[in-house]
Amino acid sequence: MKKLIAGNWKMNGTLGEAGILARNLLDLADPGLLERAEFCVCPPFVHIAAVRGVLPASVAIGGQDCAEQEKGAYTGDVSAAMLKDIGCRYVILGHSERRQYHGETDDLVARKVTTAVAAGLLPIVCVGESLGEREEGQAESVVRAQIAASLPMGSNLSNMVIAYEPVWAIGTGKTPTPGDVATIHAAIRGALQEKLDNSGSIRILYGGSVKPENAAELLTLPHVDGALVGGASLKADQFLAIARGAVG
Ligand code: PGA
Repeated sequence: MKKLIAGNWKMNGTLGEAGILARNLLDLADPGLLERAEFCVCPPFVHIAAVRGVLPASVAIGGQDCAEQEKGAYTGDVSAAMLKDIGCRYVILGHSERRQYHGETDDLVARKVTTAVAAGLLPIVCVGESLGEREEGQAESVVRAQIAASLPMGSNLSNMVIAYEPVWAIGTGKTPTPGDVATIHAAIRGALQEKLDNSGSIRILYGGSVKPENAAELLTLPHVDGALVGGASLKADQFLAIARGAVG
């Protein structure tokens, strides 16, 4: 299973800047790097078509969210089918910023996963504990509960992706210790095996302040199958350096 190095561009950049970032990724990637790992970038919705036009098919594109409904009178929302139609392979669901600023619950995330899978997208479902939960020793139980409640039963989830992103590590420069990352990833792997029949090919990414300096240490741990990168994905050289740390 190739590692997946995914970039979450969040709400950043003009159309011109998105195009430059995509071109820089291609220009700066050393020969073979784009084949040694699977790459995915998740631009803001309005830039997806342009970025798709710049990058070769070997680099996947993802949306940062999608609606739970298939289509209709949902002003401001973007459907999974629309993302699929413009060339997306992935969609990030349940990112902590959606949970925190838009009140998204595990139930809603599960419904979005069902919609996304039905549209032919691979969800990247984000889970992770808050600082308080970590300090109270509840990180593992919180993440297990999120996995149990955010994945719908009955869908074919065999190629989906989980991203473990401790809320307190996102955009802060702080990361869990390698031991803590390994513990949670093993727990997620166990929770997936308990819940789903064919969970062996589900990749579990680590996310939260991944940068070139910590990539090799965090992304080569057991059960860490890649990274979901925020801030450092906005700089092509840093994003590629993270990939090199993960796959050499
Ligand atoms: P960060 O964000 O790499 O800037 O911490 C990660 C994410 O939110 O996916």
